[in-house]
Amino acid sequence: MLETLAEKKYIVKCMDGAEGMLLLPDSSIKLVYGSPPYPNAERNYGVWKSDEYISKISPFINAAKLKLREDGFIVINVKANRERHKGGRCTTRSLVVEKLAIMMEEEWGLSCVDIEIWVKDNPVSTGLRVACQDAYEQNLWFSKSPSWKINLDAIRRPYSETTLSKYENNEFKPRANGVSYVRKNKRIQANPLGALPQNVIRGPVSARQDLHQAIQPSYLPNKYIKATTQEGDLVVDPWMGTGTTGIEALKLRRTFIGFDIYQEYVKNAETALLKTLEGLRDDEE
Ligand SMILES: C[S@@+](CC[C@H](N)C(=O)[O-])C[C@H]1O[C@@H](n2cnc3c(N)ncnc32)[C@H](O)[C@@H]1O
Repeated sequence: MLETLAEKKYIVKCMDGAEGMLLLPDSSIKLVYGSPPYPNAERNYGVWKSDEYISKISPFINAAKLKLREDGFIVINVKANRERHKGGRCTTRSLVVEKLAIMMEEEWGLSCVDIEIWVKDNPVSTGLRVACQDAYEQNLWFSKSPSWKINLDAIRRPYSETTLSKYENNEFKPRANGVSYVRKNKRIQANPLGALPQNVIRGPVSARQDLHQAIQPSYLPNKYIKATTQEGDLVVDPWMGTGTTGIEALKLRRTFIGFDIYQEYVKNAETALLKTLEGLRDDEE
């Protein structure tokens, strides 16, 4: 499969994503990035209920761990929906995502880089009146190895006006209580590449909802691809959907393999990936 990949830059297949990853050579993937079916979400691709969630997702984590390079990463973008109880009412917020995160460390021996939060500017209302409105999702970011290297410079962000004016107009002094990031009086220069990235991502949900019920915005995979991979590295999305991860991977000159169990999604993703590559070739000419 990797020979085809070197030439074509991407491969998409209509099949179970865990089984698909098992077809790849061991230690070949730099980043597994994807958004699985969410706990209890009723979608046209089925429901993964809380009480079966761990057994449904386990084959994916097993396969990812085996196929990731030693310096590889897995990022799972997910949100726990409320559990539907007898009588059809949704009430309890499932804790299965938290359980999964703990198991990724304790059962699979992966190392937690962070659990990042994606705060949605325009969350879709659940219409429920049992808790506050759902407005965030979690990105479970794990490394295969306990010592990892990420490229923070690649994901720096613009400084706020307040920070820039603080740097320009102030001399920073050590604090009397010793908790301080300067040892002597000092002026701080803004980094020309921008401020350090945060573990909170803010932005709108995707506007491309026509082809699929759960399309993610491109800035999510973009961040993790930039932070964890270099040009030519292999990115795999085992729950590809419309191919958002693949489009970003190709734009950043990485290679991509994606799996989905629905032929229609795979066909649409293939068209989108091909269009992305053609766009890149046109830009080069
Ligand atoms: C949350 S969506 C992912 C959407 C995608 N990130 C995008 O931006 O379009 C989850 C996807 O997982 C797919 N899926 C469900 N079970 C699967 C399985 N066993 N193997 C591969 N894909 C699966 C669904 O068909 C769906 O497209």
